[in-house]
Amino acid sequence: MKTDSVIKVEKLTAILDDKIILSDVSFKAYSGDVTAILGSSGSGKTVLLKHLLGLYPGEGNAVSVMGLNPSQLDEGQQKHFYTRLGVFYQNGALLNSLTVGENVALPLHQHTDLPPDLIERLVKLKLRLVNLQGSYNMFPSSLSGGMLKRAALARAIIMDPPLLFCDEPGSGLDPVSLASLDNLILNLQKLLGMTVIMITHEVSSIFRVADRIIFIDQGKVIFEGTLPEALKSQNKALMEFFRKGRGD
Ligand SMILES: Nc1ncnc2c1ncn2[C@@H]1O[C@H](COP(=O)(O)OP(=O)(O)O)[C@@H](O)[C@H]1O
Ligand SMILES: [Mg+2]
Repeated sequence: MKTDSVIKVEKLTAILDDKIILSDVSFKAYSGDVTAILGSSGSGKTVLLKHLLGLYPGEGNAVSVMGLNPSQLDEGQQKHFYTRLGVFYQNGALLNSLTVGENVALPLHQHTDLPPDLIERLVKLKLRLVNLQGSYNMFPSSLSGGMLKRAALARAIIMDPPLLFCDEPGSGLDPVSLASLDNLILNLQKLLGMTVIMITHEVSSIFRVADRIIFIDQGKVIFEGTLPEALKSQNKALMEFFRKGRGD
């Protein structure tokens, strides 16, 4: 029985534009696990992520991440909080006017006073870890889709965060690139000892990476458990999701 939860959500309800987007959402994510938050498009996954990241300031006490309430951080806690988590967004979101090296270095410039030569070494090390050793001086526009994702991943882990959030990391990739990105995330998770929260609607990704699954349907958690438990579950919506995802 696991007890070391990194994330604890208890009865989170989110209302946007008078619409209930999340309803009484409760779950835990544990240290060292890859927890997959899955659900079809529009089910509320990104809204949930935004709550975990504290992007709805002043909200209640439903969410705890690394022991803190992300919606009610004071200035000191904010610095501590945001340097200890990495976020890997859907579209990569690199700045096109900066080189790959400069993009990956951004969090180090923002959060540390490290000298430029050390920053360069740290960036090159992370680029090697994501198999982009030759791309330090390249601009995002000259990278393939898979390379852009890996550059964004390097930036997300540049501070060695204990907690990494990925929101639909594989979106837009072909199946082969998706598999290699999943494997890369898994390798990095082991190498750096990270806890990973992966939001996805890709069933193939879940089979490759997930230790535990939180399944969200129309703003409600309808399953929480390990991958083997999910596969044995008789929950209709979950079975349907797996069936569709496998393409049968
Ligand atoms: N800022 C917002 N204002 C109003 N509705 C929103 C807002 N953000 C998201 N929604 C709605 O919340 C629902 C869940 O969205 P989202 O969390 O982005 O889904 P997904 O599971 O695909 O990530 C959708 O119906 C979306 O239209
Ligand atoms: Mg989303």
